[in-house]
Amino acid sequence: MKAAARALARGEALLSRAFGQAGNPFHHLGALCIYCFWIALVTGIYLFVFYATSIEGSWASVERLTHGQWYAGGVMRSLHRYASDAAVLFLLGHVLREFVRGRYTGARWFSWFTGVPLVWLVLWFGISGYWMVWDQLAQYVALSTARLFDALPVFTDPMSRNFLDNASLSDRFFTLIAFIHLVGLPIFLVLGIWFHLLRIRLPRINPPRALMAGSLLAMLLLSLLQPALSHAPADLERVPGALALDWFYLAIFPLQDGIGALPTWLLLGGATLVLAALPWLWPAPRPAVAVVHLPDCTGCGYCAEDCPYGAIDMVPRTDGRNLALQAEVDAAMCVGCGICVGSCPSSSPLRRQQPLHSGIELPEPSLQWLREAIVAPPPGPQPRILLAACACAAEAARVSDAGVVALELPCIGLLPPAAVDYALRSAGFDGVAISGCAIGDCLHRYGERWTIERVARERPPMLRERVPRERLSLSWNKRGEEAALARAIAALRASLQAQERGHPGGPA
Ligand code: HEM
Repeated sequence: MKAAARALARGEALLSRAFGQAGNPFHHLGALCIYCFWIALVTGIYLFVFYATSIEGSWASVERLTHGQWYAGGVMRSLHRYASDAAVLFLLGHVLREFVRGRYTGARWFSWFTGVPLVWLVLWFGISGYWMVWDQLAQYVALSTARLFDALPVFTDPMSRNFLDNASLSDRFFTLIAFIHLVGLPIFLVLGIWFHLLRIRLPRINPPRALMAGSLLAMLLLSLLQPALSHAPADLERVPGALALDWFYLAIFPLQDGIGALPTWLLLGGATLVLAALPWLWPAPRPAVAVVHLPDCTGCGYCAEDCPYGAIDMVPRTDGRNLALQAEVDAAMCVGCGICVGSCPSSSPLRRQQPLHSGIELPEPSLQWLREAIVAPPPGPQPRILLAACACAAEAARVSDAGVVALELPCIGLLPPAAVDYALRSAGFDGVAISGCAIGDCLHRYGERWTIERVARERPPMLRERVPRERLSLSWNKRGEEAALARAIAALRASLQAQERGHPGGPA
């Protein structure tokens, strides 16, 4: 899995060169999926205005839209098709990426597990959409769906009976399909996505604007170059001719043609069960969760504000001190990133207390460990640099560079700004290099962003004014981008040497 994560990071690093880290589409796959649903919703409303909900009228009304007003209705139809296809592509990418990065297990089981029904919802969204055109493809899809359901003991009368001949189908049936596609499934999808994101604080549901504009433009171009077209009208008394399948949504039907309906259910059902059970079938070791050290908790609430998984609540004080609130960690929701430690204003390694505690901390790595690591830079060539890197840059953090002391943290958000102050002003380091995941792609969602804001004094706890910014460097790299980190350290070293020679100005 580590090798897959590394390969993924390398591929994504290439994309970051083209799009920039913040605009890399791989960093926004879930949000892109939602964006595609928005496009499908808006275009779907337009199409429905002109759609005739009847056996006779549906195919003709779609034809009129496609050819009669190709510049509006036709483009809207194609956009509707391509946004739906893109949603599947982004969804597959999202699932694979979360899996490869190990974000499916432990406290994250909830997001994973609640994502699984969304796959089925999206699939039926697409399938029911193809029915509405009532062309030969719709006929194939309708008959195949009926055969699929007939294999289950759900309906007393076989569903396929509705499709024996043209006379056995009624307009009411189309009203039902339109209701499912336009009202029923969207409601379930919105509820499903809401549930999916329930345990995620500040979920990123919108991709960056440039990415939205770019993907819309790409779909628009595709719509103009390759408009979505219908097949000949459905005729239940004839066997459909050659069909152009949409493999994103309709692949299960050729599968059913090949292996039969019941084996298709068994295969799909089995795959769904395995997918849903993956957090328990292939668990990762559970990291140590954050614990509150009440004597040092002032109830400020910064940790609850910063926790990316909503694992911390502020509750009434229980220790009788004259303070209103205290932090409380829900161990089942904590991913052990330590971002709360970095946000605790009492995480100051400057204090002389032994053993050192802060209001909230991880048992491993402890604040005591952090102070001991910083306390004395090794004797050696100057300038002496403290490298604080997140575990994703673990290989990078193991640099064997004379003059560099590397700290490997679960997440860069664990680094309290006071530790930087201490390293530069008291411990004797000449510079501090901070390195975390690529912008917008922190493994723990907000570690890199909170760190940037704390250093820029935009978010508490802020790096103190007195800390010389020219002795700091911030670099954001993916796993496997050791070379970029090495360049950042080299640039900091060169800048520190220049400052030493009396030419100030640095990389921060
Ligand atoms: C309609 C389909 C889906 C949409 C629109 C969607 C969207 C999203 C969004 C917006 C996030 C939050 C990203 C962030 O702010 O960091 C997210 C997180 C997540 N999704 Fe999905 N998702 C979908 C389906 C799935 C499926 C099928 C799975 C897996 C089976 C899945 C697994 C996850 C996991 C594990 C996370 C949490 C990652 C973390 O812990 O940071 N999602 N999803």
